[in-house]
Amino acid sequence: MPVITCNEDLRRLAMRRAPRAIFDYADRGSYDESTLRANRADLDALKLRQRVMIDVDTRVLRTRLVGEEAAMPVALGPTGLTGIMHANGEILAARAAQAFGVPFTLSTMSICSIEAVRAAVEKPFWFQLYVMRDRGFAASLIERAKAAQCSALMLTADLQIQGQRHRDIKNGLTVPPRLTLANLLDIATKPAWALRMLASPHKNFGNLAGSVPGGKGLTTLSQWIAGQFDPTLSWKDVAWVRGLWPGKLIVKGILDADDARAAVDSGADAVVVSNHGGRQLDGAPSSISALPDIVDAVGQRTEVLFDSGVRSGQDVLKAMALGARGTFIGKAFLYGLGAMGQAGVHTALELIHKELDVSMALTGTRNVADIDGRVLWKPGVRS
Ligand SMILES: Cc1cc2nc3c(=O)[nH]c(=O)nc-3n(C[C@H](O)[C@H](O)[C@H](O)COP(=O)(O)O)c2cc1C
Repeated sequence: MPVITCNEDLRRLAMRRAPRAIFDYADRGSYDESTLRANRADLDALKLRQRVMIDVDTRVLRTRLVGEEAAMPVALGPTGLTGIMHANGEILAARAAQAFGVPFTLSTMSICSIEAVRAAVEKPFWFQLYVMRDRGFAASLIERAKAAQCSALMLTADLQIQGQRHRDIKNGLTVPPRLTLANLLDIATKPAWALRMLASPHKNFGNLAGSVPGGKGLTTLSQWIAGQFDPTLSWKDVAWVRGLWPGKLIVKGILDADDARAAVDSGADAVVVSNHGGRQLDGAPSSISALPDIVDAVGQRTEVLFDSGVRSGQDVLKAMALGARGTFIGKAFLYGLGAMGQAGVHTALELIHKELDVSMALTGTRNVADIDGRVLWKPGVRS
């Protein structure tokens, strides 16, 4: 077993253990991937300000996210098809999050259903909603999330239409995996993954089963999904969801200050500054570069959360320095899942926790609540 010291180690292990098409689905971005790269490059370009001779013997990472206790300012973001990165992936990730004490968000496009995940954990999780053309279906998902006592609903706003990921097309990615010769050869080199998948009852989109008109066949299902994302979605629909959901409402996929204001005006309790991890509008700015304007616009009125590019505790510190209350991770936990299942997700969280803890100490910060722009090094600026 290789020694794991950082998220990149988990990424490399996941690349070896999951079929290539599935690893690529998680790892890659849309079109030329310029936004995917910018997410990382712009986080890397921010520098932290080293401070010394400050007593940092005790440090507090505990916080509240959207009103809930969290062991650190990090939550697992919603990722579709998590249950094919590793069999039962959503259940394993939800259990790892629960054990670590951070929120888990289940995607509409998950493999394990809302009910299957609910039965596997004690603590309520968050549910991410894609409002699809069929509003009756969206309303039924909200009802199911209520019945499962989900403690927050996250409405994703940046996928009215899907950006293209070249890799997925070239790899012929389907759910369940289509048995082409290339896929069979690939899967043959990942027998542990395949055996776990065969043994799992969860192999298709768990939340959609039974809702697809005309049967559950693969083509029907993918055709139905492709036709379901709704380009007519508007802020009125967010207000409609607000009316159906009495609990906390998070609007995700905000990259613009005007949109952030509209989200708050439509009843959002929190917004997630995000470019979907570089998977949607290629050419959009990095999420970290969009964050300060959005914090200026709505930070006084709502909780501003952040994702896209977070791989380390240093990244969490930087996002918080620019005004985020906390961050979500997508790929960072999927790499852990693909590498080592539930233990890998735990490792991903533990690495980030330790990195944040040490980086707080070295910037002279004792409590996550105290993190602000002072932890950033500003070239040419003295304070
Ligand atoms: C494989 C994968 C699937 C995703 N599926 C969803 C989804 O179903 N719903 C959603 O709102 N966001 C989805 N996202 C976006 C994530 O919630 C999050 O915004 C993104 O992963 C953050 O960037 P990061 O991967 O660099 O952390 C997905 C991301 C990945 C990597």
